[in-house]
Amino acid sequence: MTVHALRQPEADEPDMAEGRLDWLAEQIVRNRFLPVPPPERIFVGDGGFLPVGVEFLTWFVRAGDLMPNERVLDLGCGIGRMALPLTQYLQDGSYDGVDVSAEGIAWCTETITSHYERFRFHRLDLAHPIYNPGGAASTSAVRLPFDDGAFDFVFACSVLTHLDAHEIRAYAHEIRRVMAPGARCLVTSFMLNRPAREGLLAGRGVLPFDGAASDPEIYADPANPTAAVAFDEDYLLAMFLAAGLKRRHPAIYGRWSGRSTPGESFQDISVFEIDPVALGAAEHQG
Ligand SMILES: C[S@@+](CC[C@H](N)C(=O)[O-])C[C@H]1O[C@@H](n2cnc3c(N)ncnc32)[C@H](O)[C@@H]1O
Repeated sequence: MTVHALRQPEADEPDMAEGRLDWLAEQIVRNRFLPVPPPERIFVGDGGFLPVGVEFLTWFVRAGDLMPNERVLDLGCGIGRMALPLTQYLQDGSYDGVDVSAEGIAWCTETITSHYERFRFHRLDLAHPIYNPGGAASTSAVRLPFDDGAFDFVFACSVLTHLDAHEIRAYAHEIRRVMAPGARCLVTSFMLNRPAREGLLAGRGVLPFDGAASDPEIYADPANPTAAVAFDEDYLLAMFLAAGLKRRHPAIYGRWSGRSTPGESFQDISVFEIDPVALGAAEHQG
């Protein structure tokens, strides 16, 4: 890899904030010099590494209104799949990624931070049965190493699908704490609702979730629960609402469940913003 493999858009290139996103997406996918990890080091799922990252860059901008000058937090950054395309978009902004995987953080720091100093990666030694079995602390008591209101945009892609409800509740509160006024939070998840359950019951689901299960938290493989977790949609939303976050617009449902009106992405995408009602109540109490 060469240093100039990673570069910022030139001044005469289309203005990203004006919606020339398709152009940038195409450039990134075609950029054979971007430092994609070798296949044996990729532990973040199937699909093309760059195409999936680029797909999410477009969701961040289109669904989450991400601007090139914003401060971004990537919760569960893995091995840089979302960070790499963002190096080509965040011009005056910054990026912090956290993950429990020492290997992922090491690769990202060596490969990305070395060229982009405003892209920083932080290891959280939280226990996870798959990704960090020997972790020292519990995610249920997580405290992120960032100040209150430090970020304009927070995202967690394919992370809630590996956590239990206690862990998500803890993260929802931490996400809210680090969100600045006007910040947005984009998360992906498997959300159970009537169309999703119908798809699963008809056998069209991509993962073997039981569409008839009544529990609000279910597993594709009960023997390995955190491999893939689905939540009842209202149950998941209530966790975010309790943290002071409300959905900014209706969810963008994915293909995972085999629902009859599948979306463009695989998982369901939700974008949250600070709930003004909760904010008002907190100010009233304070
Ligand atoms: C399927 S991977 C997705 C990685 C990345 N978001 C992406 O889309 O490429 C799930 C990630 O969540 C991370 N993870 C698991 N438990 C976590 C926790 N409690 N806090 C932060 N990250 C966690 C894993 O280490 C892994 O990198």
